[in-house]
Amino acid sequence: MGSITLNGVSKAFGETNVIRDVNLTIEERDFVVFVGPSGSGKSTLLRLVAGLEDVTSGRIEIDGRDVTATPPARRNLAMVFQSYALYPHMSVRNNMAFGLKMAKEDKAVIEQKVNEAARILELTDYLDRRPAALSGGQRQRVAIGRAIVRDPTAFLFDEPLSNLDAALRVQMRLEIARLHQALGATTVYVTHDQIEAMTLANRIVVLRDGVAEQVGSPLALYHHPVNRFVAGFIGSPTMNFLPATLGAADDNGVSAWVGDTEVPVAVDASGHEEGEAVTLGIRPEHLLTSGDSGLPTLSGEVQVFERLGGITYIYLRLSDGEVLTVEAPGDIAVKVGDRRSVGIDGINCHLFAPDGQTLPALRRHPLATE
Ligand SMILES: Nc1ncnc2c1ncn2[C@@H]1O[C@H](COP(=O)(O)OP(=O)(O)OP(=O)(O)O)[C@@H](O)[C@H]1O
Ligand SMILES: [Mg+2]
Repeated sequence: MGSITLNGVSKAFGETNVIRDVNLTIEERDFVVFVGPSGSGKSTLLRLVAGLEDVTSGRIEIDGRDVTATPPARRNLAMVFQSYALYPHMSVRNNMAFGLKMAKEDKAVIEQKVNEAARILELTDYLDRRPAALSGGQRQRVAIGRAIVRDPTAFLFDEPLSNLDAALRVQMRLEIARLHQALGATTVYVTHDQIEAMTLANRIVVLRDGVAEQVGSPLALYHHPVNRFVAGFIGSPTMNFLPATLGAADDNGVSAWVGDTEVPVAVDASGHEEGEAVTLGIRPEHLLTSGDSGLPTLSGEVQVFERLGGITYIYLRLSDGEVLTVEAPGDIAVKVGDRRSVGIDGINCHLFAPDGQTLPALRRHPLATE
């Protein structure tokens, strides 16, 4: 129970297309995260699944049943929003029981379900309190508890953690992961926080302007982004993008020239010409600051650096003015104005055609499952 299929789903508000032909199969027990910039259509897509918006075209199925025209109450999905919208005058217990009471569920059943949800969410000691006497994280757990007691086919979350402070977000993120393991219920989760997406999802859907740009496992998106947009969106700090020129190609891939540095990259450049302008992508964590690695190097001047304790980010201005973000060890000796070289390993590089599409990798990263 809990598979959800979207078939050519589109949504327009008036003339504006907000969701464009999304095809997606969510399997039973999946934890699928919709991620993308503000306005990309994440909430709208979730609301279409919930039935809170009607599709303009396309079909939605739950467990093989066409629910495109089914009202939200009959889809048996539970939605948790950013604003918890608890009833302030009711106890935690009654907040959680409310939906079941309205559905005229048996009293004993309600009590048992509420107690069980409270146990899972560690809210047992708070059942008689009102929401005003709870912390933000506890209130969010009550909102989740209200969803759990309904035994939904799937949970839908829309940015449930964005009102919480950083430490609490991490804690609640872990709790949601634990809850998913414990309940094993299909979950669809919207966030613009790519760390939440990477850590919670088994599959991520990256949205841009209502288009599902890529669907895949977190590490598939990290190692094999299909285009420059996904490459820039997944990973923090964002991937570096440098103008480059294609050199000679052979069975092992193609050379990319960044200024006068030649970087061999294991991608399939067929259909592209020597001399063509491309973009080379390399993540900050893949640039090497340690001595002579025998790798090709890029050098520049340290413009700024940020010490985070465990790591240091160095911003290196190359001779052509491009600024490279480099992840370095926390205790690295560095001064503004230093000239430094960083090693660049082609194995970690991506090449993007002028239209933004990624040149396909010749080998798949071993951890990048579909
Ligand atoms: N009821 C509506 N009427 C008209 N336009 C709407 C409506 N709801 C959403 N939109 C538009 O649809 C687009 C997608 O909105 P949506 O709320 O799905 O984005 P989002 O990805 O959830 O963004 P955010 O991260 O800011 O929450 C936006 O351009 C928004 O202005
Ligand atoms: Mg939204």
